[in-house]
Amino acid sequence: MQRAVRALLGSRWPLLGMAGALAAVVVAIIVVATGGSLAVAALTLLAGLTLVGLVVVGASAREAEQRTRKTEKQLKALTSAVETVATSVQAVAERQADPTGGPLAAIIGAQRLDAAVRHDELVALHEELRADLHATLTERQLAELSALANLYAMLGADDEVPAFGGFAASPRTVLRLASLVRRLPSDALIVECGSGSSTVWLALACRRAGKGRVVALEHHERYAALTREALARHGLADVAEVREAPLEPVTVGGEKHDWYAAPQWTDLRGIDLLFVDGPPGSAGPRSRYPAFPLLATALDDGAVVALDDAQRQDEADIAADWLAEPVDSVRLADVDTVGRTRFFTASR
Ligand SMILES: C[S@@+](CC[C@H](N)C(=O)[O-])C[C@H]1O[C@@H](n2cnc3c(N)ncnc32)[C@H](O)[C@@H]1O
Repeated sequence: MQRAVRALLGSRWPLLGMAGALAAVVVAIIVVATGGSLAVAALTLLAGLTLVGLVVVGASAREAEQRTRKTEKQLKALTSAVETVATSVQAVAERQADPTGGPLAAIIGAQRLDAAVRHDELVALHEELRADLHATLTERQLAELSALANLYAMLGADDEVPAFGGFAASPRTVLRLASLVRRLPSDALIVECGSGSSTVWLALACRRAGKGRVVALEHHERYAALTREALARHGLADVAEVREAPLEPVTVGGEKHDWYAAPQWTDLRGIDLLFVDGPPGSAGPRSRYPAFPLLATALDDGAVVALDDAQRQDEADIAADWLAEPVDSVRLADVDTVGRTRFFTASR
């Protein structure tokens, strides 16, 4: 009813109704005033009221019609949406029923095939890499093993030698050093930076060759004692000497380093073989750099210099610097690399 009244007020029908009702009242008054029949006046008033009633009913009917049309429109939209969903559901059902799987299955199938091929390729590549790695490791291990056997056959250690592995130079390096001893002059001087099993092997090589002596610089009291003990056990104390040399600050080529205390090496002259295997990296960056600049004048013409752990970046940089500039007219030349050790020769 409220809506009907609102609709009624929002149209021109109320004006017409009111105008009709007003006209009926005016007519009724004129009829009564002119002494006309009361019945006619009453009928006129009734007709006016009927007109107002008809206007209200008409407006309600119009509002109801508008609502019906709106509902019909909504129903139509809903029906269309339901039909769309039904069509999609039917399409999916048809695709599922299709034994070939339809275009969607073709796409998924192609992707699965792709993934399967990629997987097989990766597995094959992995196998190949594993085989390569295995072969490389075996080759390296074989080289070290054969060097070890060669070393024992050549030098016949008859007591326990400090173990290889860890901090010690590898058997391949020690074999090359030991075989060099045989080619050195009879009064050969071998100097080592950093003592350990290599000191014992070099001393064994000197004894077997019947020439040369070894001086090992060692900054660590405990390792100096261990190496001395091993030398004594082999009766090599007269062939090799371990000099305990604490690391002291030194400036070389503008760089500050900690290196073996000078009093322990300044007397060394005529070095034929210099094995640089210390100080360890824990002493600071490029800890082995000072060896050539500080010992260059003590090297004999044609001396061999060996730098261990050449695969490390620090050692690669050190080697490049050593090769770049002669020190007191002593120049180094690259010879070759054996395992992890790079060999150079010195010339004046
Ligand atoms: C690379 S090692 C020298 C090894 C020696 N030239 C050899 O081949 O046996 C350098 C220094 O490490 C220290 N060192 C030796 N053996 C060690 C060990 N087993 N553990 C920790 N440091 C060790 C010693 O002070 C030595 O001078």
